[in-house]
Amino acid sequence: MLICVGCESSRSREERALTPTQNRGRVIFQANCQLCHNAYKKEPLQGPPLVGVFRKHDLPSGMPATDEHVRETIKMGRRNMPPFNLVLDDQQIDDLLAFLHTL
Ligand code: HEC
Repeated sequence: MLICVGCESSRSREERALTPTQNRGRVIFQANCQLCHNAYKKEPLQGPPLVGVFRKHDLPSGMPATDEHVRETIKMGRRNMPPFNLVLDDQQIDDLLAFLHTL
């Protein structure tokens, strides 16, 4: 058997390491969040970068970085961030949270 490390060209290193759930979350992130949030670069877009969002104690707003607060932010929006409660269902938000935990 041929073992090829690091030679998949079409998929990024980050993507290959993800579980199916995390990968679904990544696709949802790309479709809904990436416009305003960088996931892999610490450069702000319209919103703050989400690199390491769950590794830090606090969210950019100062709220604790918990699933509960991030779910609330996604559903209800926050100042210049639109609400996603009519766009994403709970299952999709679960997948998205699983992806955000990998950052
Ligand atoms: C139209 C741009 C836009 C989109 C799309 C967007 N956001 Fe945001 N987001 C923002 C802005 C602006 C802020 C900063 C809000 C503030 O002033 O506190 C923010 C803040 C956040 C925060 C930090 C909240 C805090 O308490 O500090 C998280 C987490 C977040 N967004 C996640 C997401 C996720 C996940 C998605 C996709 C479902 C998303 N955002 C889509 C603009 C956006």
